[in-house]
Amino acid sequence: MATVSIENRDNIALVWVDNPPVNALSHSVREGLKDAMAAIANDDTIDAAVIACRGRTFIAGADIREFGAPPKAPHLTEVVQIIEDMQKPIVAAIHGTALGGGLEVALSCHYRVALSTAKIGLPEVKLGILPGAGGTQRFPRIAGVENALDAIISGRHIKAKQALSWGAVDEMVEDGLEESAMAFAASVIGKGPRRTGEMTIDGDKYDQAFFDAFRASIARKTRGYFAPERCIRCVEAAVKLPLKEGLAAERENFQECFSNPQARALQHMFFAERQVSRVPGISKDTSRRNIKKVGIIGAGTMGGGIAMNFANIGMPVTVLEVQQEALDRGLAVVRKNYEHTASKGRMTQDDVETRMALFTGTMDYADLADCDLIIEAVFETMDIKKTVFTALDKVAKPGAILASNTSYLSIDDIADVTSRPTDVLGLHFFSPANVMRLLEIVRADKTADDALATCIDLAKKIGKVGVVSGVCHGFIGNRMLSQYAREMSLSVIEGAMPHDVDKAMYDFGMAMGPMTVSDMAGLDIGYLNRKGMDRAEYETRATDWIDRVVEMDRKGLKTGAGIYDYDEGSRTPKPSETVMNVILEESAKLGIERTEKSADEIVERGMLALINEGAKILGEGIAIRASDIDIVYINGYGFPAFRGGPMHYADQMGLKAAYEKILKNAETFGPRWWEPAPLLKELAEANSSFAEYDKKQVG
Ligand code: CAA
Repeated sequence: MATVSIENRDNIALVWVDNPPVNALSHSVREGLKDAMAAIANDDTIDAAVIACRGRTFIAGADIREFGAPPKAPHLTEVVQIIEDMQKPIVAAIHGTALGGGLEVALSCHYRVALSTAKIGLPEVKLGILPGAGGTQRFPRIAGVENALDAIISGRHIKAKQALSWGAVDEMVEDGLEESAMAFAASVIGKGPRRTGEMTIDGDKYDQAFFDAFRASIARKTRGYFAPERCIRCVEAAVKLPLKEGLAAERENFQECFSNPQARALQHMFFAERQVSRVPGISKDTSRRNIKKVGIIGAGTMGGGIAMNFANIGMPVTVLEVQQEALDRGLAVVRKNYEHTASKGRMTQDDVETRMALFTGTMDYADLADCDLIIEAVFETMDIKKTVFTALDKVAKPGAILASNTSYLSIDDIADVTSRPTDVLGLHFFSPANVMRLLEIVRADKTADDALATCIDLAKKIGKVGVVSGVCHGFIGNRMLSQYAREMSLSVIEGAMPHDVDKAMYDFGMAMGPMTVSDMAGLDIGYLNRKGMDRAEYETRATDWIDRVVEMDRKGLKTGAGIYDYDEGSRTPKPSETVMNVILEESAKLGIERTEKSADEIVERGMLALINEGAKILGEGIAIRASDIDIVYINGYGFPAFRGGPMHYADQMGLKAAYEKILKNAETFGPRWWEPAPLLKELAEANSSFAEYDKKQVG
């Protein structure tokens, strides 16, 4: 069936785009639009046209699935120019989302009518590219340079009302889009086309100083990303050059972005995020449980943060603590968080009160009896977890989902203390739980499919990306983290200083270096953990120096000193002479001849540790797909999205190379921690990749 068709209504043509699911600009749509414009131009009975879309949305952009294939004419740049050059007025009728190439089509139309629920945006930067079909040239002309920079650099969706105030939309309607757009088209027949490309920008206002200031304002947020700077250069071209030359500059910058590995990495992330909810045994036909009320056990930082997610979507939450004081403190922190948001203008004081009214505090387990989902976020020891779940088992209503927020412990063992292990699973939130996007959903041996399916849906509702993990110590993220942390710490004892390691990883793109992260998390947690373990169970060379630091009462940021020093009230780490001396002493004690470590060496060691463990996790079936692991690392561990996650990074390195380097590390550092993952070996020997492996998984 044709993806573009024309309906003639008196003297106005209604051009329909119909290419489910999101009317992406596949080859047939581009060709259809081009042909439609030719037909309209040649038909004397037609005076104007409306471009509208069937289904849930206006055109949501170029067809990302075609990005890997050689481009096929007509290209979008040609199609939008044809639309803009039309002699008869063309009106875009926008509903849903007009994104990327979709908005570029709308901008090449002479006028735009939108439903009030519609959104527009140029999200290309999130895919590592830039609006390559005139978006960087036309959007500043119609919406203003500041607004265009905001939209293009953030990639955010802009509501119709705001687009109207920017001048990017001419008319906003509550309903009856098709008729309104037709009426609008009829009203401009006399006026003829108004071409965005012919609009001018007051160039004097936007001098070098303006763009320098803008660059400085986004520098932190866009650190390491290739495309944002290219976007700015294009907008500068829009200000300084006539359309044709500006479009040429846009093309050049687009090609540079397109061939940069970051584009592949970010496009990998786009599809990875859409894969996570495809889980073996779960389909849209799997029944779901109705979740209307949530119980949280523990009002600490984690419990409070978790509770906020549900209140934010209007769900009542009962928070349980054992002592009134702890309960009051926890709820006060929640209020403080909301008030902080209100003080930034991101919510009103009324909103704060509405959200707080959804909270009920209690010290009585019986008050959780009407909750459909109860999440435990108490102290991380198995005995305490078991006590909590035994108590829950007594009061929770039949069919309630019982979840643990444990970061490491076995959900199978926790489930076994209840009489209903099928209702038990893990919901592992990341701190701060109201902010971090990652949620590991841990499927235990006996977890029922409908309980799991419910939580997968719920993750989306609360704005999280939910990744399903099997049961193992630390699940996907923390199990990998412990390998990485150990190798980073060994790099220190062998020759680097903590700030060298942090700088290497920060420059690689990590949100923070591993030593800074340890100080923030608190060094005492691992220390106490180790006290309950046999020294043979872990790598003492990596931990003894940290234990000495803890024993000096340097527990991290919270005590004002840890691996680093901190000035009073400051969170900025400063290298510590004391700790550096401890490191030198510990190296000497171990008879280690310290050698300099280059940033490349440090990064490679950290990455290989992640990759090898990731491959083990994948081979054991703990993670469903390699791309799920990438999602975990990017959304929960500050891994740079522009590198596509550790598994995509491995694919870029080549699995054969990764495998050989791991074998070499086994020789250099000893085999104990460098046993290659069987799956990595298998894929490397088959000259395959994690991407190929993923293709064979569900979905
Ligand atoms: N190309 C190909 N497929 C796309 C697509 C696109 N641009 N946008 C969405 N899809 C697919 C998704 O992969 C998904 O497919 P499956 O069901 O097979 O997984 C399906 O459409 C539905 O997508 P979502 O699950 O994301 O649905 P949603 O309702 O939650 O969101 C949306 C809809 C807001 C349009 C969202 O899909 C989205 O943001 N899409 C990307 C938009 C975008 O980035 N556009 C710019 C493309 S680049 C460009 O246009 C550059 C250029 O001009 C050269």
